[in-house]
Amino acid sequence: CGIVGYIGKRDSQDILIEGLKKLEYRGYDSAGIAVFTDNGLEVSKSKGRLAVLEDKLRDEPLHGFVGIGHTRWATHGKPSDVNSHPHTDNSAKFSVVHNGIIENYLDLKEELIAKGHVFVSETDTEVISHLVAEEYKGDIVAAVQRAVSKMRGAFALGVLTEYEPERLVAVRFASPLVIGVGEGENFIGSDIPAILEHTRNVYILNDGEMAVLTRGGVELMTTDGETISKEIYHVDWDLVTAEKAGFDHFMMKEIHEQPKAYRDTMMGRIAEDGKSVQLTELGMTADYIKAIRKIQIVACGTAYHAGLVGKTVIESLARIPVETDVASEYRYRSPIITEDTLVIVVSQSGETADTLAALREAKRNGARVLAITNVVGSSVAREADDVLITSAGPEIAVASTKAYTTQLIAFYLFGLHLAQTLGTKDQAYVAEVLAAMKNLPEQVEQVLEQKTVLRQIADNLSKHNNLFFIGRGVDYAVSQEGSLKLKEISYIHSEAYAAGELKHGTLALIEDGIPVVALITQEELYEKTLSNIKEVKARGAFVFAVVNAGAEVEAAKSVDELFAIPKTLPLLAPAVAVIPLQLISYYASLARGNDVDKPRNLAKSVTVE
Ligand code: G6P
Repeated sequence: CGIVGYIGKRDSQDILIEGLKKLEYRGYDSAGIAVFTDNGLEVSKSKGRLAVLEDKLRDEPLHGFVGIGHTRWATHGKPSDVNSHPHTDNSAKFSVVHNGIIENYLDLKEELIAKGHVFVSETDTEVISHLVAEEYKGDIVAAVQRAVSKMRGAFALGVLTEYEPERLVAVRFASPLVIGVGEGENFIGSDIPAILEHTRNVYILNDGEMAVLTRGGVELMTTDGETISKEIYHVDWDLVTAEKAGFDHFMMKEIHEQPKAYRDTMMGRIAEDGKSVQLTELGMTADYIKAIRKIQIVACGTAYHAGLVGKTVIESLARIPVETDVASEYRYRSPIITEDTLVIVVSQSGETADTLAALREAKRNGARVLAITNVVGSSVAREADDVLITSAGPEIAVASTKAYTTQLIAFYLFGLHLAQTLGTKDQAYVAEVLAAMKNLPEQVEQVLEQKTVLRQIADNLSKHNNLFFIGRGVDYAVSQEGSLKLKEISYIHSEAYAAGELKHGTLALIEDGIPVVALITQEELYEKTLSNIKEVKARGAFVFAVVNAGAEVEAAKSVDELFAIPKTLPLLAPAVAVIPLQLISYYASLARGNDVDKPRNLAKSVTVE
């Protein structure tokens, strides 16, 4: 979910809606705003995309100078008008927007019902508005503090009361929240882009901190009431980077931004002579690195798939054993974490609740944590011991593309950093890999130039309801990402299989005409993968292969259709091979008439476990 808030001298409705538009990537199944109008604290909300709310407000606007807004991704209670935020209490004098989950909301609800409160929604948030109303004794700040002290879970809140129309109260507790400081007006938002149009001066709240906004200023304190002071963070990036830049969809724009994103992520991290990596931002000493006995990579979704490649990269470059886990499983398998374990969490947003919980578990057990994230100042970045920022820029499309590939770049850099520190690879080898990495942006551009070919292939694939991706080694890892991409936005069912494992069961599903996407970029596994291709071809499959340039003629004898990618070192191949898979998913989604940037049922950033 995403929240915004405004207090100032301008009509708040449009400011809230514009802010919510920037936050729609956080969820978009319903939206609402609450504004102080001449009639008091009024709420307008509805199920559906933000556009539905906009239409409603066009007919019945809410004029006023103070307001809060919310875009929702359902957790407690289905998407519906009543379950939408803002939520109010029975007197309708209090209004709350909330991002996160209140774990003990049922207990609180029972207590409040016993005191006469009547609930209309299924949400945990409604409990907060009633609780604040119950605790209110004439001071909204104290009421919110008392309410928060009773709440368990994760939340960012924006609270208004009709009794004190000159104050907007904001709280952060394990869900992101920033405060924008303007002149004669102030803002709250779940992230910086939501308020960037109005101010570049922000306070980033920490867990357990709150802010009281008036027109004239911002007062910061802990939820225990202790006053705090913070430095203003001045935002030096601009909003234009977050617009579509002439492409039909953010996803296509982001796919095309990858060459730049690769360069930006490598920038300043390779020595001028090109012979070594310099990750000066890491605080790890050589002695520390030499003492690492095990690495665990933990992440969700696409970031997890980057971790699968990262495992091979680190193991082959540095010879340190690596485990890779999905974050939602990691904590519950009682992972063996010791002080010589390095845990690497990977997260585009840096706010994924599962990943954050895994990070905390790792730290609790004494591990050092390195975060690979795209968002400076995100929760993951702030809680990790070391941070490697991927310089992908804002990623808006729900389906991740440039975040994934820059995560790969980060793994290559870190793997080389380990290798040169440990001496597992000599300088000549490190220099060779770095030189090949510098060519990647251009190689990606070459793939992008051929995108129309991929459109035709995607059009054909999109007519099927089932397909398979196969590959060996890192090709298998990339297959998993290709399969996820396709599922997410085209809604076509697909499975990724280790090419050699297919014959141990899944081969039974291969029948006439079923498409199989085969990745064959790893030269030493070429023959073996080819045998697997023959197995599926013999059962009637239609095989589309992604191969290295130079291998086309040979491969063409065994497959139905192929796409050649510029050749790089085997370890780096994922950073090129995934590009045609991203494009195929994009075009398949388009062919099926789906909403490419906002696939059904999904959210860009999932801040609940
Ligand atoms: C959500 C998104 C995925 C993403 C995953 C992890 O499920 O829909 O695209 O890969 O979260 O997000 P993160 O921000 O932690 O990389």
